[in-house]
Amino acid sequence: MPPVSPDLSPDAHPGVSAERLLGTVGVARRPVDSAQSATANRAWWDADADDYHREHGEALGAVQFLWCPEGVLEADAHLLGDPAELRGQRVLEVGCGAASCGRWLATQGASVVAFDLSAGMLRHAAVLAELTGVHVPLVQAGAEQLPFADGSFDIACTAFGAISFVADAAAVMREVARVLRPGGRWVFAVQHPMQWMFSDDPGEAGLVVIQSYFDRTPYVEIDADGRPTYVAHHRTLSDRVRDIVAAGLVLEDVVEPEWPDGRTEEWGQWSPMRGALLPGTAIFCCSKPSTGSLP
Ligand SMILES: C[S@@+](CC[C@H](N)C(=O)[O-])C[C@H]1O[C@@H](n2cnc3c(N)ncnc32)[C@H](O)[C@@H]1O
Repeated sequence: MPPVSPDLSPDAHPGVSAERLLGTVGVARRPVDSAQSATANRAWWDADADDYHREHGEALGAVQFLWCPEGVLEADAHLLGDPAELRGQRVLEVGCGAASCGRWLATQGASVVAFDLSAGMLRHAAVLAELTGVHVPLVQAGAEQLPFADGSFDIACTAFGAISFVADAAAVMREVARVLRPGGRWVFAVQHPMQWMFSDDPGEAGLVVIQSYFDRTPYVEIDADGRPTYVAHHRTLSDRVRDIVAAGLVLEDVVEPEWPDGRTEEWGQWSPMRGALLPGTAIFCCSKPSTGSLP
């Protein structure tokens, strides 16, 4: 059983942000291992869950598969394959948050399991399941060690879940490869690696390079005792490709969605102004070979 997280949500402490709840006092740049990253990020997403859904819930939709702030919907993009063929597919949603994507897939006839590290995020998934009447099994787990049997899914996917928050992204690729059946598909959206160079500012300050693209030292927010309260891990584009290939997967496409004309919604550091100049999202479309054994 994963450790039970305390109720750090702002609803339990109205008006208090995740940073204040967790006692964040600053940012450090230093190595952080898998266990420390998971501990910090579980508490952070628990504390931020209500704010996240207050801010983004409407855009995410309760039963909708939104890949990214650029507005790409699976209903239009078909990155998981022909929608007519989703019926009966066993799908794993990684880092599901409120599992809106998983519920949309369930309405297409897929058999979905959704998992997340954070009980606070999964609580939103449970509430939305009740509200919409679309239920998918929810599991609390970390993405570096999946509690699922080999070959148990046809498709795995995530819109911004888990990948940027784990110390060992290569382990996530290996685990997903393991739980996919031969011929299965893995599609994941992450913040575009280029974004690492810039501050998280949707305005002009977010156009100024503040650090090296090649600096993989984690971004770590810390409390007064130096304990991590939030961790983000950067990988370059070639790191991502290498992790995918090393897991025995085939990279079929990388989608860099462009900011659509007329789209005005801002989302964190995503904005029309930055979107016109910089890629914000990278979506990696992978498959597991039909034959052969994994490395
Ligand atoms: C930006 S949110 C995205 C949530 C959801 N996919 C969406 O589209 O709203 C990132 C999610 O990744 C989850 N997460 C972070 N680290 C994780 C890990 N190691 N394993 C599984 N989930 C993780 C967080 O709890 C959070 O729900």
